[in-house]
Amino acid sequence: MLRSLLLTLLLATPAAAQNLDSLLARMTLEEKLGQLNLLSANGQASPQQMQLVRAGKLGGLFNVIGAENTTPVQRIAVTDSRLKIPLLFGLDVIHGYRTIFPIPLGEASSFDPDAAEATARAAGQEAAAFGINWTYAPMVDIARDPRWGRIAEGSGEDPYLGSLMAAARVRGFQQSIFATAKHFAGYGAAEAGREYNETEISQRTMREVYLPPFKAAVDAGVASLMSAFNDIAGVPASGNAWLTDTVLRREWGFKGFVVSDWTSVAELINHGVAGSQAEAGRRALTAGVDMDMQSSIYVDSLAALVRSNRIPIRVVDSAVMRILRAKQRLGLFRDPYRARTAPANPELRATARRVAGESIVLLKNEPAGRGAACCAPTLPLAKSGTIAVIGPLADNKEEPLGPWHTQGQAADVVTVLQGIMSKVPAATQVVYAQGAGMEDTSTAGFAAALAAARQAKVAVLVLGERGDMSGEAASRSSLGLPGVQQELLEAIAATGTPVVLVLMNGRPLILEWASDHVPAIVETWFLGVEAGNATADVLFGDVNPSGRLPVTFPRVLGQVPLYYNHRNTGRPPDVHNKYSSKYLDVPVTPRYPFGFGLSYTTFAYGNLKLSPARARASDTVTAIVTVTNSGSREGTEVVQLYVRDEVGSVSRPVRELKAFRRVTLKPGESRAIDLRVALRDLWFYGLDMKPVVEPGTFRVYVGPNSAEGLEASFECIP
Ligand code: BGC
Repeated sequence: MLRSLLLTLLLATPAAAQNLDSLLARMTLEEKLGQLNLLSANGQASPQQMQLVRAGKLGGLFNVIGAENTTPVQRIAVTDSRLKIPLLFGLDVIHGYRTIFPIPLGEASSFDPDAAEATARAAGQEAAAFGINWTYAPMVDIARDPRWGRIAEGSGEDPYLGSLMAAARVRGFQQSIFATAKHFAGYGAAEAGREYNETEISQRTMREVYLPPFKAAVDAGVASLMSAFNDIAGVPASGNAWLTDTVLRREWGFKGFVVSDWTSVAELINHGVAGSQAEAGRRALTAGVDMDMQSSIYVDSLAALVRSNRIPIRVVDSAVMRILRAKQRLGLFRDPYRARTAPANPELRATARRVAGESIVLLKNEPAGRGAACCAPTLPLAKSGTIAVIGPLADNKEEPLGPWHTQGQAADVVTVLQGIMSKVPAATQVVYAQGAGMEDTSTAGFAAALAAARQAKVAVLVLGERGDMSGEAASRSSLGLPGVQQELLEAIAATGTPVVLVLMNGRPLILEWASDHVPAIVETWFLGVEAGNATADVLFGDVNPSGRLPVTFPRVLGQVPLYYNHRNTGRPPDVHNKYSSKYLDVPVTPRYPFGFGLSYTTFAYGNLKLSPARARASDTVTAIVTVTNSGSREGTEVVQLYVRDEVGSVSRPVRELKAFRRVTLKPGESRAIDLRVALRDLWFYGLDMKPVVEPGTFRVYVGPNSAEGLEASFECIP
């Protein structure tokens, strides 16, 4: 017993660590700076990059595609370079490697962290089989402005949902490769939604809204963080010691490493906080950015500064040790090539279809108001009769892959048209007409689309954005349907044939006309390779939609930024009072609130009880609510719990999501659902900028979304 304990201790302690110390001791300054250097390849390492590897001047490469390309360059690192230190191989595996899953914003609509963990695990395993050992995901930026294209890559506007999704994705990826929580921090607050723009974030908002998902990723053991492009009130995130040292390392105890974003070290010059490359490098490295992506500044320009003591060698050593420790933790010293097998394709596709189904949000479903079917909701569709399938995205194989599709291939995608055709019996006639291209200005294709609609009992219109209209460098100043798609929608609706609008998009769109005139609207985001099957599953009711919006849909662009967890103001909106916080020309409410989504059944809430009614800050309050499936189909409800701290030393949001649960109920079934809130999770930054849970009354809302719900309160006692 004692012997085995001793053996365990011996194995667990410093042998490995000592190796790294002695390795560090053997490194020249150039080799140390080399470990901090990260370059992008173009599918394969170039001869110059191979030479850098041989000379020990590269710590990792990204965008090397396929094990046939990673293996030879890794061989150079571990056999030809003087110290034989293996390389990291990075890639943006954002929502799939070859098998593309829903975009993260779509997947967040599932309110199902297990689903996010499952797709991240599968994506990581698939990427690992192709030589990748490090992904630049999850993107955990909170985004409150739909103009910003990168909203597609994150989990939306809510820090609680965002934190659960961040942790789940880290756990999933890190079963086989390293993850990177990005972009640290505040990137999503780009002013006016304009990509790479400056941000003005108070420390309180930073800590309460933007940082929690990063903290959750760190707590889940994420290996690395990526420093962002933006500045925060003048201090660029890639040269921001408060973020990357004070908060990340000292407060949170992060032991991994920080990689810059693409040339964000060099961009400190454009930001105007460094006058030269060397100064930019010094600023970033001393702030705590360990690895320089793509600027080559650390390796090319910092040695002289270290030799003249303008950068202390211990700063370099700490950064190098973080990289070496990461390589050790990943097992690269033992197993640099990491030959892995990908999960079987049917398994990957089954996961893709299931999670895509969960990610779909039913925004509207009313009777189409014609003939005998006047009173039934438009969806789900019967599998009989003639169905018109129309629109530039209806039979499109490219766009469902979304903005970051790595090795995803259009050929792998099932389109909505294909999904519908494979679902209905041969006797059902499916008539397809494209109607218009994505951004056409011509209406020449309308005639065929109108003819298709006129002969059908229902027209399924598949409209939205191109995949690359969201993601990086894809800000939009208007959030309508591009090209003549809106005209196409109106023309088809004018035929009188009931319309089902199926949307593909990477951000909230402005849907005023459609919401007022179209009986059924289905938000599918970009669902990946199984888009068509998952959409058809929902359209025909084989899957009952259960997705909920992770982001607010405004009525008009002028309301942006619009998010549910805002503060009350001194003059909250009041339609009877001109001098209250509102607009003259549009309501302050969103078109579809955060947390909203319909089902083919209905749910009723009753008997909300909180216990205890009085609790201390160290206690947990349990809310019990009875949820009843009051409709006629089995369905899944996302029961959501929001809290409002009624009186605080600092004004608190009108609601904050603090718990939710997916619950599947049979028709007529009632179940008591309990949701727990630990009072310590009700912290905020007090007047002294320290986290505090203040005594007082907390209002609790439990219901189907952020705008409805039963109410009760409890007291937090000192
Ligand atoms: C993006 C990052 C990405 C990196 C590497 C940058 O332009 O902002 O999110 O990880 O490129 O591809």
